[in-house]
Amino acid sequence: MDILNAYPDRPGDRPIYTPPHGPPQTDRIPKEVYETMREDNIRLFFHAFYKRLGQSSVAHMFPKSEKNLLRAADKSAAMFTFLFGGPHLYQQRYGRPMMRARHLPFIIDEPARQEWLRCYRETLDEAPEKYAMPQEHVEAVWKFVYDFSSWMVNAAD
Ligand code: HEM
Repeated sequence: MDILNAYPDRPGDRPIYTPPHGPPQTDRIPKEVYETMREDNIRLFFHAFYKRLGQSSVAHMFPKSEKNLLRAADKSAAMFTFLFGGPHLYQQRYGRPMMRARHLPFIIDEPARQEWLRCYRETLDEAPEKYAMPQEHVEAVWKFVYDFSSWMVNAAD
Protein backbone atom coordinates (compact mmCIF):
# COMPACT_ATOMS: atom_id res chain seq x y z
CA MET A 1 0.00 0.00 0.00
CA ASP A 2 1.29 3.40 -0.95
CA ILE A 3 0.77 5.43 2.20
CA LEU A 4 0.96 8.85 0.48
CA ASN A 5 -1.88 7.88 -1.80
CA ALA A 6 -3.93 6.10 0.81
CA TYR A 7 -7.61 6.84 0.43
CA PRO A 8 -10.36 5.42 2.60
CA ASP A 9 -11.59 2.24 0.95
CA ARG A 10 -14.66 2.84 -1.14
CA PRO A 11 -16.38 0.49 -3.53
CA GLY A 12 -15.08 1.13 -7.02
CA ASP A 13 -11.75 2.52 -5.80
CA ARG A 14 -9.05 1.86 -8.31
CA PRO A 15 -5.37 1.12 -7.76
CA ILE A 16 -3.42 4.37 -7.99
CA TYR A 17 -0.18 4.30 -9.96
CA THR A 18 2.62 6.46 -8.56
CA PRO A 19 5.44 7.34 -10.97
CA PRO A 20 8.58 5.78 -9.42
CA HIS A 21 10.67 8.90 -10.06
CA GLY A 22 8.53 10.99 -7.69
CA PRO A 23 7.79 14.68 -8.34
CA PRO A 24 10.10 15.85 -11.15
CA GLN A 25 12.66 18.61 -10.68
CA THR A 26 11.45 21.43 -12.90
CA ASP A 27 13.19 24.63 -13.94
CA ARG A 28 11.41 27.92 -13.51
CA ILE A 29 9.86 29.34 -16.66
CA PRO A 30 11.40 32.80 -17.35
CA LYS A 31 9.10 35.56 -16.08
CA GLU A 32 9.34 37.32 -19.46
CA VAL A 33 6.71 34.84 -20.57
CA TYR A 34 4.17 36.41 -18.21
CA GLU A 35 5.46 39.91 -18.82
CA THR A 36 4.85 39.79 -22.57
CA MET A 37 1.73 37.60 -22.59
CA ARG A 38 -0.08 39.03 -19.54
CA GLU A 39 -3.32 37.54 -18.28
CA ASP A 40 -5.41 38.20 -21.39
CA ASN A 41 -3.13 36.25 -23.76
CA ILE A 42 -2.58 33.47 -21.21
CA ARG A 43 -6.37 33.04 -21.03
CA LEU A 44 -6.66 32.96 -24.81
CA PHE A 45 -3.87 30.35 -24.98
CA PHE A 46 -5.76 28.14 -22.51
CA HIS A 47 -9.07 28.63 -24.28
CA ALA A 48 -7.45 27.35 -27.49
CA PHE A 49 -5.72 24.49 -25.62
CA TYR A 50 -8.92 23.37 -23.90
CA LYS A 51 -10.86 23.54 -27.18
CA ARG A 52 -8.28 21.11 -28.59
CA LEU A 53 -8.67 18.92 -25.49
CA GLY A 54 -12.43 19.00 -26.07
CA GLN A 55 -11.86 17.47 -29.53
CA SER A 56 -9.22 14.97 -28.42
CA SER A 57 -9.21 11.35 -27.28
CA VAL A 58 -9.21 12.59 -23.65
CA ALA A 59 -12.29 14.81 -24.22
CA HIS A 60 -14.36 12.54 -21.93
CA MET A 61 -12.45 13.92 -18.91
CA PHE A 62 -13.36 17.54 -19.66
CA PRO A 63 -16.63 19.48 -19.45
CA LYS A 64 -18.93 18.99 -22.42
CA SER A 65 -20.46 22.46 -22.74
CA GLU A 66 -18.31 25.24 -24.16
CA LYS A 67 -19.15 27.46 -21.18
CA ASN A 68 -17.89 24.94 -18.65
CA LEU A 69 -14.93 23.95 -20.82
CA LEU A 70 -13.78 27.57 -20.91
CA ARG A 71 -14.40 27.90 -17.19
CA ALA A 72 -12.05 24.92 -16.67
CA ALA A 73 -9.56 26.58 -19.06
CA ASP A 74 -9.62 29.71 -16.91
CA LYS A 75 -8.65 27.64 -13.87
CA SER A 76 -5.62 26.27 -15.69
CA ALA A 77 -4.83 29.77 -17.00
CA ALA A 78 -4.77 31.01 -13.40
CA MET A 79 -2.23 28.32 -12.51
CA PHE A 80 -0.08 29.01 -15.56
CA THR A 81 -0.17 32.76 -14.89
CA PHE A 82 1.85 31.88 -11.81
CA LEU A 83 4.00 29.26 -13.59
CA PHE A 84 4.83 31.78 -16.34
CA GLY A 85 6.16 34.18 -13.69
CA GLY A 86 3.07 36.23 -12.83
CA PRO A 87 0.93 36.63 -9.69
CA HIS A 88 -0.34 33.66 -7.62
CA LEU A 89 -3.81 33.84 -9.17
CA TYR A 90 -4.64 30.16 -8.76
CA GLN A 91 -3.53 30.06 -5.14
CA GLN A 92 -5.51 33.23 -4.33
CA ARG A 93 -8.66 31.83 -5.92
CA TYR A 94 -8.52 28.12 -5.12
CA GLY A 95 -5.92 27.54 -2.41
CA ARG A 96 -3.00 25.14 -2.41
CA PRO A 97 -2.17 23.74 -5.85
CA MET A 98 -1.86 20.05 -4.82
CA MET A 99 -1.81 19.31 -8.53
CA ARG A 100 -1.35 15.55 -8.36
CA ALA A 101 -4.12 15.19 -5.76
CA ARG A 102 -6.48 17.36 -7.81
CA HIS A 103 -5.95 15.10 -10.83
CA LEU A 104 -6.62 11.85 -8.95
CA PRO A 105 -10.36 11.82 -9.75
CA PHE A 106 -9.35 11.36 -13.41
CA ILE A 107 -7.78 8.20 -14.79
CA ILE A 108 -4.58 9.52 -16.38
CA ASP A 109 -2.31 6.91 -17.96
CA GLU A 110 0.70 7.52 -20.23
CA PRO A 111 -1.34 7.54 -23.49
CA ALA A 112 -3.69 10.14 -21.92
CA ARG A 113 -0.66 12.23 -20.95
CA GLN A 114 0.70 12.00 -24.52
CA GLU A 115 -2.62 13.16 -25.95
CA TRP A 116 -2.76 16.06 -23.45
CA LEU A 117 0.82 16.95 -24.48
CA ARG A 118 -0.07 16.80 -28.18
CA CYS A 119 -2.83 19.36 -27.64
CA TYR A 120 -0.46 21.51 -25.57
CA ARG A 121 2.30 21.31 -28.22
CA GLU A 122 -0.04 22.36 -31.02
CA THR A 123 -1.17 25.38 -28.99
CA LEU A 124 2.44 26.20 -28.08
CA ASP A 125 3.49 26.16 -31.73
CA GLU A 126 1.06 28.96 -32.55
CA ALA A 127 1.65 30.85 -29.28
CA PRO A 128 4.36 33.31 -30.42
CA GLU A 129 2.19 34.48 -33.30
CA LYS A 130 -1.23 34.35 -31.68
CA TYR A 131 -0.65 34.88 -27.95
CA ALA A 132 2.56 36.93 -27.76
CA MET A 133 4.61 34.16 -26.17
CA PRO A 134 8.32 35.02 -26.58
CA GLN A 135 9.68 32.59 -29.19
CA GLU A 136 12.94 32.13 -27.28
CA HIS A 137 11.09 30.71 -24.26
CA VAL A 138 8.77 28.28 -26.04
CA GLU A 139 11.03 25.31 -25.36
CA ALA A 140 11.37 26.22 -21.67
CA VAL A 141 7.57 26.09 -21.37
CA TRP A 142 7.52 22.79 -23.23
CA LYS A 143 10.20 21.27 -20.99
CA PHE A 144 8.23 22.29 -17.92
CA VAL A 145 4.93 20.78 -19.05
CA TYR A 146 6.62 17.70 -20.49
CA ASP A 147 8.39 16.97 -17.20
CA PHE A 148 5.65 18.08 -14.80
CA SER A 149 2.90 16.21 -16.66
CA SER A 150 4.67 12.93 -15.87
CA TRP A 151 3.70 13.52 -12.22
CA MET A 152 -0.02 13.72 -13.13
CA VAL A 153 0.03 10.12 -14.37
CA ASN A 154 -1.93 8.05 -11.86
CA ALA A 155 -2.89 4.90 -13.78
CA ALA A 156 -0.78 2.13 -15.27
CA ASP A 157 -1.22 1.58 -19.04
C1 HEM B 1 -0.82 14.53 -17.81
C2 HEM B 1 -1.68 15.20 -18.51
C3 HEM B 1 -2.86 15.92 -17.89
C4 HEM B 1 -4.18 15.58 -18.00
C5 HEM B 1 -4.74 14.40 -18.78
C6 HEM B 1 -4.95 16.56 -17.24
C7 HEM B 1 -6.32 16.54 -17.07
C8 HEM B 1 -7.05 17.43 -16.30
C9 HEM B 1 -8.45 17.35 -16.06
C10 HEM B 1 -9.39 16.29 -16.62
C11 HEM B 1 -8.79 18.40 -15.27
C12 HEM B 1 -10.19 18.77 -14.76
C13 HEM B 1 -10.85 19.71 -15.72
C14 HEM B 1 -12.09 20.32 -15.09
O1 HEM B 1 -11.95 21.29 -14.31
O2 HEM B 1 -13.21 19.85 -15.34
C15 HEM B 1 -7.58 19.12 -14.99
C16 HEM B 1 -7.52 20.22 -14.19
C17 HEM B 1 -6.39 20.97 -14.01
N1 HEM B 1 -5.15 20.72 -14.55
FE1 HEM B 1 -4.62 19.11 -15.62
N2 HEM B 1 -4.09 17.47 -16.71
C18 HEM B 1 -2.81 17.13 -17.07
C19 HEM B 1 -1.66 17.79 -16.76
C20 HEM B 1 -1.61 19.01 -16.12
C21 HEM B 1 -0.40 19.76 -15.91
C22 HEM B 1 1.02 19.36 -16.33
C23 HEM B 1 -0.76 20.89 -15.27
C24 HEM B 1 0.20 21.96 -14.81
C25 HEM B 1 0.16 22.52 -13.67
C26 HEM B 1 -2.21 20.87 -15.08
C27 HEM B 1 -2.97 21.82 -14.46
C28 HEM B 1 -4.31 21.73 -14.15
C29 HEM B 1 -5.05 22.66 -13.31
C30 HEM B 1 -4.50 23.93 -12.65
C31 HEM B 1 -6.33 22.18 -13.21
C32 HEM B 1 -7.50 22.76 -12.38
C33 HEM B 1 -7.50 22.01 -11.05
C34 HEM B 1 -8.66 22.41 -10.17
O3 HEM B 1 -8.52 23.38 -9.42
O4 HEM B 1 -9.71 21.76 -10.23
N3 HEM B 1 -2.69 19.70 -15.61
N4 HEM B 1 -6.55 18.51 -15.63
